[in-house]
Amino acid sequence: FIQLAKHDLIVIGGGPGGYVAAIKAAQLGLNVACVEKRGTLGGTCLNVGCIPSKALLNASHHYHDAKHKFAGYGIDIPSVSMDIPKMQGTKAKSVTRLTGGIELLFKKNKVTYYKGFASLEGDKKVKVVGETTEVHEADKILIATGSEPIELPFLKFDEKVVCSSTGALDFQEVPAHLVVIGAGVIGLELGSVWSRLGSKVTVVEFMDRICPFMDADVGKEFHRILKKQGLQIKTSTKVVAGKVEGGQVILELESVDGAKKETLQANAVLVSVGRRPFTDGLGLDKVGVELNAKKFIVVDDHFKTNKDGIYAVGDVIHRGPMLAHKAEDEGICVAEMFAGKAGHINYDTIPNVIYTHPEVAWVGKTEEDLKKEGRKLKTSKFPFQANSRAVTNVDTEGFVKVVTDADTDRLLSMSIINSNAGEAIAEAVLAMEYSGSAEDIGRTCHAHPTLSEAIKEACMAAYDKPIHV
Ligand code: FAD
Ligand code: NAI
Repeated sequence: FIQLAKHDLIVIGGGPGGYVAAIKAAQLGLNVACVEKRGTLGGTCLNVGCIPSKALLNASHHYHDAKHKFAGYGIDIPSVSMDIPKMQGTKAKSVTRLTGGIELLFKKNKVTYYKGFASLEGDKKVKVVGETTEVHEADKILIATGSEPIELPFLKFDEKVVCSSTGALDFQEVPAHLVVIGAGVIGLELGSVWSRLGSKVTVVEFMDRICPFMDADVGKEFHRILKKQGLQIKTSTKVVAGKVEGGQVILELESVDGAKKETLQANAVLVSVGRRPFTDGLGLDKVGVELNAKKFIVVDDHFKTNKDGIYAVGDVIHRGPMLAHKAEDEGICVAEMFAGKAGHINYDTIPNVIYTHPEVAWVGKTEEDLKKEGRKLKTSKFPFQANSRAVTNVDTEGFVKVVTDADTDRLLSMSIINSNAGEAIAEAVLAMEYSGSAEDIGRTCHAHPTLSEAIKEACMAAYDKPIHV
């Protein structure tokens, strides 16, 4: 091996956790390198996750509106059609622009970028296998290797017929029938994309409700809306076997109680039953880095593993949701700690957004979980039916739900179902970060007519009465 540079910090993985940590640490004066095996920076999020999925959600939403909604506004488009390869090309351009942007940011901030596969060599050494094999040294090593999709044992991914999100983001034609296994975030976002573009979509979920991690009330309304949009959703159902024959997939389904059995044939299946931490080939066992039972890296409050000098952030660690903004905040936090600063992250105020139409966004614990804590709660809701902007937009589906502490009015959680929920939830996140109350929001002036007035009125309902219902 060629023994090369010595750095203050080597980051393994160029996703939202890794690249953000690398840039922040360099901004704070450290000599930083980042190793990425994929050939482009940005990780799952920019290459095969957040960014391409939102590009397809946006394009398919416009198509669906042009086809089904524009006539209602008096916009007459005689024939609407969709060019899937062109849509995919526009998606690819957005991805390339953003991944290339990170490379420029590395240059600007003097982060050394090693293209290759990294593994731990012990003794503060990292081996990088790329065009050449090199060993670099660092005082600190930060693991940000992310996650990968979970495969079902009887359905091996071929990314053409049996797909993870990566294959389902890249279809070059609309599958006539798409089966989605797992009614979580990926399944419902990508299921919506292909349903809008013309696929028959059948969603199979093991639990008795979709998005079981979501507030039950909100999940019920979300389910109703998706069903109305044409998604066929089978809850309490498991896929017990599957095979590919003649380019089609044949799946054996069984209700969880075993009473009902059914066979489904489809042009493609998206398996979206969760993701697992990715640490293959890193050499963690050689160095003795501790993993939990589900193979996540265990870290302390300073993101340090059980081994001195080795740290980890993002999807690969045992704490917090698998979200890009959570990984980024951890990246900044750990870089600040490396530079002797305090660092800050609040796991209680991480927003969640599902970018369907309408979007679903929430922050804080579910009402069920807060009840389990034995707290005295107050719950209030405001429907978008009663919001003037939603009415002018002819887009009145959904509501704002607020859960507060019944004694103090402190805001404990907010959920929003609405076209703009992902942007709007930031207001609740900020309020909760400042330990705010519903009254703090209810007495804050909100522009009229905006969708955010529904948030103000839901909060007014928590301590007084709203005006418009
Ligand atoms: P990753 O982004 O996975 O990055 C890890 C990087 O490390 C990868 O590029 C990998 O190639 C590299 N790597 C791994 N091992 C090595 C090695 N040994 N040597 C060198 N490099 C290595 N989150 C959101 O917040 N919002 C969304 O809208 C959203 N949409 C998503 C849609 C989809 C379809 C998917 C799959 C995920 C989505 N996510 C979303 C989740 C988000 O992508 C992840 O939470 C986020 O990317 C995690 O960042 P990370 O840096 O921890 O890991
Ligand atoms: P998920 O955890 O969101 O959903 C998985 C679903 O599959 C759950 O409803 C679960 O009950 C169900 N399930 C599990 N095993 C099953 C089985 N054998 N048969 C049928 N159903 C089964 O996982 P998903 O959708 O794969 O996403 C992975 C991660 O990616 C999520 O944790 C999410 O945080 C992240 N992500 C975030 C997005 C966003 O922020 N908008 C978008 C896409 C992904």
